[in-house]
Amino acid sequence: MPVHILDHPLASHILTHLRDKTTKPATFRTLSYQLSLLLAIESTGDIETENKTIETPLETVTGRVLAHQPLVVVPILRAGLGMVQPFTDIFPDVSVGYVGLERDHETAVARSYYCKLPPLAGRHVFVVDPMLATGGSAVQALDIMKAKGPKDVRLVCIVASPEGVAEVEKHHPGTVIHTAALDRALNARKYILPGLGDFGDRLYGT
Ligand code: PRP
Ligand code: URA
Repeated sequence: MPVHILDHPLASHILTHLRDKTTKPATFRTLSYQLSLLLAIESTGDIETENKTIETPLETVTGRVLAHQPLVVVPILRAGLGMVQPFTDIFPDVSVGYVGLERDHETAVARSYYCKLPPLAGRHVFVVDPMLATGGSAVQALDIMKAKGPKDVRLVCIVASPEGVAEVEKHHPGTVIHTAALDRALNARKYILPGLGDFGDRLYGT
């Protein structure tokens, strides 16, 4: 299964502090930015580059630059918003779309309440959502993206559960998932264990 787990001492350090229930929202937001930056770099490691010849102060050299192939990042609202800025900071031509999905607190089934997307045809799309729990939200978001003809769609998360990975694989086989951690399981209320709690609430102090 194409699940890539971020393997870097700094990622482990940041994730441990994100998991810590005493971490306050301001620090939580900073840590989310930092970990998402590592994930943005990791998840774009194979995008196309092309030759560019330039003059250094000493001589001519041919280097590599990103090919013209604007990327699209799509956060699943609201928690996914905490992962957008690293993509817009390092990829100046990135387009941003939005999908609003909210889990029902009783059933844990996600309901769609918003969707605003740029053209996706032929483009690399990165769906960002920190928590892949039952996989219901991710599958709905992938359904929406794939109907619009992108070149490919990747899922970038901070914590994934085995159940969520299996659900994505069942409905969208072969989807590449980048995550900072693959946790143990879901609890009876469909929260990830050990997880980090409700990401959106911790990000926004609600
Ligand atoms: C959280 C999280 C994911 C979803 C994951 O969002 O950000 O979108 O749950 O759960 P699933 O894999 O079981 O679908 P939530 O619905 O709590 O909304 P929020 O981002 O507005 O807090
Ligand atoms: N959403 C969260 O924010 N956390 C979980 O553990 C599961 C879904």
